[in-house]
Amino acid sequence: MCGIVGYIGNKEAQDVLLKGLSRLEYRGYDSAGVAIVRGTKIEFDKKQGKLKTLISDLKDAPIKGTLGIGHTRWATHGIPNEVNAHPHLDCKKRLAVVHNGIIENYQELKKSLKREGHKFLSETDTEVIAHLIEKFYKGDLEAAVFKTLKLLKGTYAIAVVHKNEPDKLVGARADSPLIIGVGKGENFLASDAPAVLDYTKEVIFMDNHEVVTLTRDGVSIKDFHGRKVHKKPSKIKWDISQAEKAGYKHFMLKEIFEQGDILSKIIDERVANDRISFGELKISERAFKGFKNIAIVACGTAYHAGLTGKYMLEELVRIPSWIDTSSEFRYRDPMVDKDTLVIIVSQSGETADSLAALREARAKGATVLGICNVLGSTISREADGVIYTHAGPEIAVASTKAYTAQLAIFYLLTLYLAKLRKTISDKRYDYFMSEFKRVPGLVNDLLSEYKPEYNALEAYAEGFKRYYHQKHNKSTFLYLARNINYPNALEGALKLKEISYISAEGYPAGEMKHGPIALIDENPWVVCIAVQSKTYDKMLSNIQEIKARGGIVIGIATEGDREIMHQNINYLIEVPKVDELFSPLLVVIPLQLLAYYVAREFGYDIDQPRNLAKSVTVE
Ligand code: M6R
Repeated sequence: MCGIVGYIGNKEAQDVLLKGLSRLEYRGYDSAGVAIVRGTKIEFDKKQGKLKTLISDLKDAPIKGTLGIGHTRWATHGIPNEVNAHPHLDCKKRLAVVHNGIIENYQELKKSLKREGHKFLSETDTEVIAHLIEKFYKGDLEAAVFKTLKLLKGTYAIAVVHKNEPDKLVGARADSPLIIGVGKGENFLASDAPAVLDYTKEVIFMDNHEVVTLTRDGVSIKDFHGRKVHKKPSKIKWDISQAEKAGYKHFMLKEIFEQGDILSKIIDERVANDRISFGELKISERAFKGFKNIAIVACGTAYHAGLTGKYMLEELVRIPSWIDTSSEFRYRDPMVDKDTLVIIVSQSGETADSLAALREARAKGATVLGICNVLGSTISREADGVIYTHAGPEIAVASTKAYTAQLAIFYLLTLYLAKLRKTISDKRYDYFMSEFKRVPGLVNDLLSEYKPEYNALEAYAEGFKRYYHQKHNKSTFLYLARNINYPNALEGALKLKEISYISAEGYPAGEMKHGPIALIDENPWVVCIAVQSKTYDKMLSNIQEIKARGGIVIGIATEGDREIMHQNINYLIEVPKVDELFSPLLVVIPLQLLAYYVAREFGYDIDQPRNLAKSVTVE
């Protein structure tokens, strides 16, 4: 949802801004631009399309200067073109603004600014900010920004420069993320830490309703009332190399292959002598014992992790648990109160709907636990307690390692609560713990089968592409599963549709006869998750129903399963044997890889699929 970056220092701002934007491109990639204070002028360059177009343009005609701002866009208001790309300038091109978020009242502001004679060039909401600052500017940029913010309704993180103040970079935040990178003789602003990590690991996380004024040697933060706020920088622990491809063709593939090691790190960090602890968690054991119900709220892939969590919690903790998508939860007066534990799951910790759901839940007196990946993110700070997934930076828009890390945290939380609330026997707890500890090794074994240059899943993807063309591009995918693997059916379908643009649906297999079976002819490819489980026989019957109607079946089964061989399925994918409870962690691996290879077969941009952005910070 747009990435912004700002720099003030002694280096060439253009280089710093472009590097920063390349680290933020996951947030949006339909156009990009920079504005730099050069002598007594502001110079800018904006280009439609990926950042590389801007980079090559600036290579030919660099803009010199040591103060500037940059932006990579995910369009909300106005189509992606050069005029709508940020930065936006005022009438006299004296100041420039970049913005992430949505100004909800921009139309009325625009009308009145136009009446006052301001000339607008773009269709964006952002441009009103530039004209308002222009209107209020009387020689003090910070003061003009403060006056402007009073009129804005909506969400924003902004960065502003003015040609008359070559020693100042001003930023502000209301509900969209903004961090300050603190350097020596230089300072930075950015939507996310990777943008500054090449230069500094000292970062200040801005809170809502704060304004920052950066000089080369100073950082001054104030709240919206103008009161000084004192904050110490935090040290980012991970390295920028973790946000690079390490020889893989795509971030998505790299992130898929990291999963075994991440799971083992999560277990090492949280389990000692078979006892589970969550170091940073601020919710007491007493509180955990007292909750009467659990509500899980999330979006997209995080929702699928939460749905798996609901299955686990109900089975082992025997506590009524329900799940909702954040966008529904926030608007329907949900029934949560002081007896409810609300778990908000979010990789980025910045998803606008999930953040609004968190605030709604807290306002109703519920205790909110965040399961987040990004350190210092808004959800992690506003929740009553947080458990970090520590999966490292996830760059590919299609989430993979964050999902398995979220599942791992749900397993630990479930076992922790079951023990605490005495809903599990010691024997069963020990059994599950030892099964769970086997999983990272099994995931790595499974992944090692897909490492060679060419593997079965690539062959299936090739086969699908041929079939798709034979069927005049009518082939689709259906994913079926039952019980704790049902969320994986949803996740497999989501992965495929978001990176290969092929229509895919996930369904609980038992529901097939209530509608989706009407879709079955020779067109759809049906992925049937049929690992050993209490519903295995039922899945075999579903497979037969599909085969009887001419469907193409990809079966996912447990290694060594002989019965599946007699089902006349078209393609077989095997996963190592583990207790059913933990099977989602293994089953999802081939689902992720299948989506990856299909998208690669079709030649799509896997890490940056069309119309999507990694972090959805608008409604
Ligand atoms: O950062 P979050 O986990 O809150 O993001 C939620 C969804 O936007 C995200 O999972 C999205 O569905 C991914 N593109 C899925 O791959």
